[in-house]
Amino acid sequence: MNVVEKLDALRVLGAYDGGIDRALLTPQERAARELFAQWARASGFALTQDRVGNLFARRDGTRADYKPILIGSHLDTVPTGGAYDGAYGVAAALCALELLAARNLRTAHPLEAVAWAGEEGSRFPLGCLGSSVFAGLSDEATVRALVGNDGVTYAEALASPDGGLLDDVPVREDRDVAAYLELHVEQGPVLEQLGLSLGIVTAIAAQRRLRATVHGRSGHAGTVPMTMRADALCAAAELVLAFEAAARDVGDAVATVGRMVVEPNGTNVIPAQVTFSLDLRSPDEKKLDEISGQMHRAIGRVESQRGVRVEIEMLEKRSATPMTPALREAIARALDGLGEKHADLASGAGHDAMCLGTIVPTAMIFVPSIGGESHVREERTADRDVVLGVEALAAAIVEVDKTLA
Ligand code: GLV
Ligand code: MN
Ligand code: MN
Repeated sequence: MNVVEKLDALRVLGAYDGGIDRALLTPQERAARELFAQWARASGFALTQDRVGNLFARRDGTRADYKPILIGSHLDTVPTGGAYDGAYGVAAALCALELLAARNLRTAHPLEAVAWAGEEGSRFPLGCLGSSVFAGLSDEATVRALVGNDGVTYAEALASPDGGLLDDVPVREDRDVAAYLELHVEQGPVLEQLGLSLGIVTAIAAQRRLRATVHGRSGHAGTVPMTMRADALCAAAELVLAFEAAARDVGDAVATVGRMVVEPNGTNVIPAQVTFSLDLRSPDEKKLDEISGQMHRAIGRVESQRGVRVEIEMLEKRSATPMTPALREAIARALDGLGEKHADLASGAGHDAMCLGTIVPTAMIFVPSIGGESHVREERTADRDVVLGVEALAAAIVEVDKTLA
């Protein structure tokens, strides 16, 4: 199966109404891991999975004493995801290994295609879950205790026969790695505007994910006078707008509230409690501190004016991650060797490469997203770019293998 066919097989898992909802450790996401396992077995690659659900397919190199080069991405999606974000990098990693095998090209380093567990953070309140545990940035016990949107813990989800770990795949303990490569759709408009099919990532923006809980006072919508209310949703609305204003004010940063839970969520009941997400990113971490400062002042003001109490929890804090210069140069040589033009560009989106980049040399390749669209059902990349990306990845693997040897 080529990469387009693999993506076609994956895109039906969790498909609804043109989009894809494939949250971590659900039956749909497990089915995607099953496909990965099936493809890997058919190609003769050795499968392992670790205890948090990361899945690896290995092709040995000529040097048994060398640590593996990992190449991967994720199979989970956001609730309204498309067919390319993550799935492309995983399918392409397997295809690149298959391509090298078909051409009898044996690297010195072992190569492992990897499907990282839960990059999006759509079900459990932490992104890059599997890769952060693998990189030692998150503690396994803490992750196992995380509670998903559906009230199920990570440990319970892992143990579930419908969505959990795969049967008959050996457990992996080893975390030794030589380098990490990730191929991904750009998810923005830069390559398309440049008229290019390939990009080499310079750095991934710093990002933070927080959760705010506004505690108000509930009551009857018809009887409590406006002057006597502590409406949690009205207070949350002010904070959402303050968050937007802070990002605009500070500049070179983006701020998003994408998820909000109103309780009790009744038409004629004053909201008692509102929980909402805050997603904050910038290439410059200092901007994130400035926005946090403005938010803390807004919270103090809203609490005293509205008689509510606001709790803020930091769920995820990742520094800007520069990609490794020697690997960027190796990829550039590989793309030049293919005769393909390419550009350097930064990533505003987060990737598992953020976590791997804290422990080993790491680099990323982008292919264009049509109209720059992603995290929406309209997400598309042209088949010709999808196929070219696999060639680019295979060439990059060969060049990185030489560079590290
Ligand atoms: C993942 O796509 C992220 O950037 O949050
Ligand atoms: Mn992704
Ligand atoms: Mn994504």
